[in-house]
Amino acid sequence: MIIPIKPWLDRANGAAVKKGGLVLAADADFFRSTMRGGAGLKQSEEVNRMEFYHQPIMGKEVLAAMAPLEGKQVFDGTLGGGGHTELFLQHGTHVVGCDQDAEALGYAERRLSQYEDRFLPVLGNFADMDEILHAVGIDQVDGVLMDLGVSSHQLDEPSRGFSFREDGPLDMRMDVRTEFSARELVNEWSEEDMIHIFREYGEEKRAVRAAKEIVKARQAAPIETTLQLAEVVEKAVPRISGKHPATRVFQAIRIAVNREMEVLATALDKSIQILSGGGVLAVITFHSLEDRMVKWFMRRHSTPVLDRPEWPEPRENSDYCLALPSRRAIAPSEAEIKANPRARSAKLRVAVKLED
Ligand SMILES: C[S@@+](CC[C@H](N)C(=O)[O-])C[C@H]1O[C@@H](n2cnc3c(N)ncnc32)[C@H](O)[C@@H]1O
Repeated sequence: MIIPIKPWLDRANGAAVKKGGLVLAADADFFRSTMRGGAGLKQSEEVNRMEFYHQPIMGKEVLAAMAPLEGKQVFDGTLGGGGHTELFLQHGTHVVGCDQDAEALGYAERRLSQYEDRFLPVLGNFADMDEILHAVGIDQVDGVLMDLGVSSHQLDEPSRGFSFREDGPLDMRMDVRTEFSARELVNEWSEEDMIHIFREYGEEKRAVRAAKEIVKARQAAPIETTLQLAEVVEKAVPRISGKHPATRVFQAIRIAVNREMEVLATALDKSIQILSGGGVLAVITFHSLEDRMVKWFMRRHSTPVLDRPEWPEPRENSDYCLALPSRRAIAPSEAEIKANPRARSAKLRVAVKLED
């Protein structure tokens, strides 16, 4: 069953929300709590007062990859502040914009209310894109965009617990309806499990020392805030370059808390199912781990014939369904990096679904 989002958001955001969105039935309780004045309401009020949310990255390049856009249907899996979606809407596209962060959804919905006839905001995880589109009566789309990771607002808002620069509760959940947060991970996970994610998701060379320091610190008292954690990590990981020593450990914890690699793998597979022939998949990544996953996914699906030394002859690749306009990732221009330093590690990869 689908529950219309409109009555709940209308009351949470007042007159600012003009457009109804959709929320899957499983998420309805969250909106009921929002209506009663729960955490969601406070966050939404805060967002209403906010000017800047997020600067869309490689907007021109994304538009060029998806062109022509007029009359097309795009699924934006990472709506965020609605920057990319707004560019699509300005070019006559119809957009289903999904975000797992109710705060982002409320903000983008309010910002883009003038496009209410072509824009549908949905609270959800992009790993459920097939279910979300099915719920709104759409079988296939002409484009899928995923602009991975967290928004500037999420990073900069201390209460969300992503920042090692300002103090806040250890949280790091993009979707505040989930129960598992950074606090549980840091205070309850074994040393081995932390070493594993610091290495795997953070590519942190001092993973063992960082995990040991955390275990030592939490024996004295639970680690409750982002600055406490940053201080503990700094004891194990020396400050070498300009980067904060806790950068990689924080990245690893965020990826684990939000199950980012698992949901990306699922979403990539599903994007193939929901794209129509000629439809475009565009993914913006911010670290090598997710970029590798996207690169290998696109390579696997764009190779018509497979060959291995142990095979008597080459075989047709049953996964073959994509064409790559370029095998290389697109990087932001120098000018964009200068104007928005957060763009510096971004890479855009594009693939086109083959006609059946
Ligand atoms: C980098 S921001 C996107 C910014 C957006 N493109 C813009 O121009 O404003 C990433 C957003 O995607 C959301 N997000 C990340 N992973 C998600 C997932 N698996 N499902 C749904 N939303 C997700 C985050 O909550 C965040 O708001």
